[in-house]
Amino acid sequence: MTILVTGGAGFIGSNFIIDWLAQCDEPVLNLDKLTYAGNLENLSSVRGDPRYAFVQGDIGDRALIEGLLQRHRPRALINFAAESHVDRSIHGPGEFIQTNIVGTFNLLESVRAYFASMNDAEKSGFRFLHVSTDEVYGSLKASDPAFSETNRYEPNSPYSASKAASDHLVRAYHHTYGLPVLTTNCSNNYGPFQFPEKLIPLMIVNALAGKPLPIYGDGQQIRDWLYVGDHCSAIRRVLDAGRLGETYNIGGWNEKPNLDIVHSIIDLLDELRPRQDGQSYRQQIAYVTDRPGHDRRYAIDAGKIERELGWRPVETFESGIRKTVQWYLDHAEWISNVQSGAYREWLDKNYSGRDA
Ligand code: NAD
Ligand code: DAU
Repeated sequence: MTILVTGGAGFIGSNFIIDWLAQCDEPVLNLDKLTYAGNLENLSSVRGDPRYAFVQGDIGDRALIEGLLQRHRPRALINFAAESHVDRSIHGPGEFIQTNIVGTFNLLESVRAYFASMNDAEKSGFRFLHVSTDEVYGSLKASDPAFSETNRYEPNSPYSASKAASDHLVRAYHHTYGLPVLTTNCSNNYGPFQFPEKLIPLMIVNALAGKPLPIYGDGQQIRDWLYVGDHCSAIRRVLDAGRLGETYNIGGWNEKPNLDIVHSIIDLLDELRPRQDGQSYRQQIAYVTDRPGHDRRYAIDAGKIERELGWRPVETFESGIRKTVQWYLDHAEWISNVQSGAYREWLDKNYSGRDA
């Protein structure tokens, strides 16, 4: 028995692989293109583990995927591979269409051929689990109920539109071809190994470097925050017991405005690594021009996964953010290694001339 994980060198995928190998002995094959967001250093703790293997490649490469499926005969494929950053999708949507839509289509086609080659016992055990996002549901007003699995899809960014398209393809391959699929739509993850282009790691890294902490617009946009370890346990649970063709929303029951998130980080840094001048990191907050088309509020109703599969997050925001800040404080070398020239170019592209 083997599982195939795509995008396993990214933030959530690498946490998932480490967690998987800590929980069970089933081997993992990790296929990742190693874009700017893929980092094999995230997986240094499992390098050399005989249960773990890595292949560099693109989910859009049909010959490669079909060859891997035939050779390794996995009993599940978990698709994390994606272009995942909303701001990058605004600057350049092309890669998002290619990987998130065409790449997922390609995986589905490859798996369809592989599934047809299975015997009945293999077919009944096989799963294609597609990892998606709450952003496909669009933006909520303050008084709206949280997203449930029956909410209409109303994606607003090129990123969320590309994820929505991939979700529709996954659904269609179940209805049309009987592929045993599962889709999860989760909220904002945070935790170790998150690339410092996303809010939480960017704020920690910028604070420690004495740089501005850029708050888009008024900082009152709301997200639900899910500790990555909880996301990994939810995916394992859906893989084990999810009903075929169903979607499951995964959230942390932690709705918070961005500014509160930044203040929590600052309070922790003021406590754990105070600035040398005795001032608070609050001094570094800088309001900048808002993200175009910025969704105002996401909130997840994670009631279905709790009722049907008995899953609930174990981390509170307070415990999760403390662990996360401590992890970044303890991993200065990891931070320094991800700040390549390409990373600095990105910061320049997204933030220069953006003062509010
Ligand atoms: P990430 O950007 O950190 O990692 C993505 C990984 O996919 C990288 O390792 C990258 O090299 C790989 N990849 C990109 N294009 C590829 C391709 N064509 N072929 C093979 N590999 C490719 O992303 P993440 O934050 O770990 O997100 C993982 C998944 O979870 C994504 O599908 C994302 O849409 C979804 N998601 C993320 C969050 C979040 O808060 N981070 C929340 C909800 C859903
Ligand atoms: O909701 C799930 C989604 O969460 C995932 O599908 C995406 O892959 C993931 O990137 C994340 O998207 P967001 O756009 O919500 O995450 P990001 O960390 O980019 O931004 C979080 C909020 O913080 C958002 O309202 C924008 C704001 N922000 C972000 C950055 C990078 C700032 O105010 N300043 C910043 O510099």
